[in-house]
Amino acid sequence: MKHLVATSFVAACLIMPVFAAQESELPSPSLKALAKQSNIYVGAAMETRHLKEPEFALTFASQFNQLTPENEMKWSYIHPERDRFDFTKGDELVAFAEKHGMEVKGHALVWHIQNPDWLTEQEWTPSELVKVLENHIKTVVGHYKGKVKYWDVVNESFNENGSYRETLWYEVLGERYLELAFKFAHEADPDAILFYNDYGNEGMGPKSNAIYRKMKAMVDDGVPIHGVGFQLHLMGEHTIGEASVARNIERLKDLGLKIHFTEIDVRIRDDAKPFTVGNQARLFSRLMDFAIYYPEVDMYTTWGVTDKYSWIPGWFPGYGRGLMFDENYQPKKAFDAVYSSLLAASQGEFAYEPPIGDNATSRIVQPFVANPLDQASIVDEQVIYYPFAYNQLGGQSQAVPDAANLSGKWAMGYFGNKLIGRVHRQDDQTFTNKSLVHENDNVEVFISVGETYWQIRSIVGQDFAANNFPGSTKGIWSEDGKVFDFEIEFTELKSLTGETIGFNIALSDNDESGADATRHAQMYPLPGNNTAWKGEQFGELFMIGQNAVLPTKPVATPAPFKVMPLASRPDSSVSEVWKQAMEYSLEYNQLNSADQTISDRDDISGSWQLGYHKNWMFGVVNRIDDVTVTNMEHSYQNDNVEVFFGHDENTFYQLRTTVGEDFESSSYPYKHFAKWNADNTKLFFGIELREAPKAGVGLNWNIALSDNDKDQRKTQIYPVPGNNRSYMGEELTRVEFQ
Ligand code: XIL
Repeated sequence: MKHLVATSFVAACLIMPVFAAQESELPSPSLKALAKQSNIYVGAAMETRHLKEPEFALTFASQFNQLTPENEMKWSYIHPERDRFDFTKGDELVAFAEKHGMEVKGHALVWHIQNPDWLTEQEWTPSELVKVLENHIKTVVGHYKGKVKYWDVVNESFNENGSYRETLWYEVLGERYLELAFKFAHEADPDAILFYNDYGNEGMGPKSNAIYRKMKAMVDDGVPIHGVGFQLHLMGEHTIGEASVARNIERLKDLGLKIHFTEIDVRIRDDAKPFTVGNQARLFSRLMDFAIYYPEVDMYTTWGVTDKYSWIPGWFPGYGRGLMFDENYQPKKAFDAVYSSLLAASQGEFAYEPPIGDNATSRIVQPFVANPLDQASIVDEQVIYYPFAYNQLGGQSQAVPDAANLSGKWAMGYFGNKLIGRVHRQDDQTFTNKSLVHENDNVEVFISVGETYWQIRSIVGQDFAANNFPGSTKGIWSEDGKVFDFEIEFTELKSLTGETIGFNIALSDNDESGADATRHAQMYPLPGNNTAWKGEQFGELFMIGQNAVLPTKPVATPAPFKVMPLASRPDSSVSEVWKQAMEYSLEYNQLNSADQTISDRDDISGSWQLGYHKNWMFGVVNRIDDVTVTNMEHSYQNDNVEVFFGHDENTFYQLRTTVGEDFESSSYPYKHFAKWNADNTKLFFGIELREAPKAGVGLNWNIALSDNDKDQRKTQIYPVPGNNRSYMGEELTRVEFQ
């Protein structure tokens, strides 16, 4: 199975003896020889054209013992027409691997891109598509039976939030396409080792949770799946949540699965500060440390050999230098760092232990998402609308003022290096005559990158005022002051794909005529004390895109919702003590992922309060609803209130109260009750806690008000954005005891 290191070394020298001198610059023993001592394959992705370059072939064959075809086994290459397969390139790669004693990992049997037109342009019935899938997988895997030992069977099935990606496969076949693919591959080659592969799935989070659940279901059902691949297309500025990665590896290994690091690269911005190069090296070696530490992680593959041929500059404009060898095949710091980890291991001096424990928490609060746009202006179908949900000038009540008085929604997208935004504003009176600029009706955009932040303001009807943002900014209002379109260009970047920045946006309203009159409302998408102008309480904006990964550690942290101490135990929803609690709105309809704002406030709207006394937390929900439905077969479909919370990451509970009723029975071990008033406009609830809360301590939390007006729930409103996944303990937010 495994060939001697010497064989491939000699073979490499035999093909290209002329480069033997070059090679001596690499340390001895080779990378692959050292890795072998830790039972790890070190591999790289490549294409046949690269082999024509002698230095490439030499570097590759001398240092690596595993090969992944970067493109040439994908559908569009290997199956160009419905009745024709083309194995020429794939065979060439396999022959090279055989010659040099390398294992091959085939990539990829099911994916949503790089598919031929004949596959994507036809409308398939489910049974036809199953046949097409079966034929493809069985022909390809059958062709390479005994030669290609590992396969990426399914690639990238899940979205960032854990939902299924809407691909051709998913739309026609539903999630069973995964089981089918693994089954077909196994039937074609029972000895092949079969992987599910994805990006942004190395740490704990909604996406890796969804993958974990699917893997567990398949393992439980006896589906032939043997491992999970973490692509690991990382960024030089980022750190990796080591505790979070460790926990994810542990839970997958507990399912009996192997883990492969399949497409490692760490892209560096062209204008990056030198420290990112050091950080890149640390990331490369830390990943190798994981592979050394966990026997279940036995493949470490980089997405290319040399920066000369990396996919990065093409896919992430403005980035490059992501691999272990530079454009001249010289080993970089990253290579040295990986090499020293392996060397230490081979000398019995390996000391790394993943920090498993309390700091394993993944991000709790979700970012706002900016989608890529086809053009430099907002296309409604391409963006997500979010509400201006909290009046940060409201004092104790942060809920939206009377909607006729002021309301609004906003969306962000990006095009190349430009952030593109749109605000819709509904306001009964417009004032722009104030002596203090910020007291006018205006929109403010807050952006932070690293330690720096900018506030960019536009008074209704005017362009952004002069500001110190280093790029360019431009804003245009519609005649009637209802729509504001703007553009913020990050001139120093080529593309925003994959960037996560600190972000906030505010809509201000002044309704009095005097020049010194002050605003009554400044609406934000997040709660807070109106301190964004000081660079505080920012949310995040994530520029999503293919292979764009959300950092595990948030780049900015919004203010938590406050749970105020109550002077006494409230006895109802109208108890005087509720005056001591904050009131927050429920403005995010998580059942509409493209527009999370409430479409009709009379149809459903609400607010909530939380307070605590001794070891009890109490709450009130105010509910405005025109039609009440409570007779559905599944209670989650009824008009109801659900609360989601956990004391820490190992506990998570969901309590549900259908309108008019007490909480349903649940696994929550302490006392709890829910009481509705006679007309079902107010809910009063109490939850006994594990212990009396201390000021400054928080809970993971969410709360939702559901509305069904006939036979199906159509709105479920939450205090934060998300995709209605809180029932799985995901997309929660934080409350903090004061
Ligand atoms: C990339 C290749 O590197 C590019 O050459 C090609 O143009 C597009 O695909 N995730 C995967 C890989 O699973 O197949 C992708 O490879 C990179 C992201």
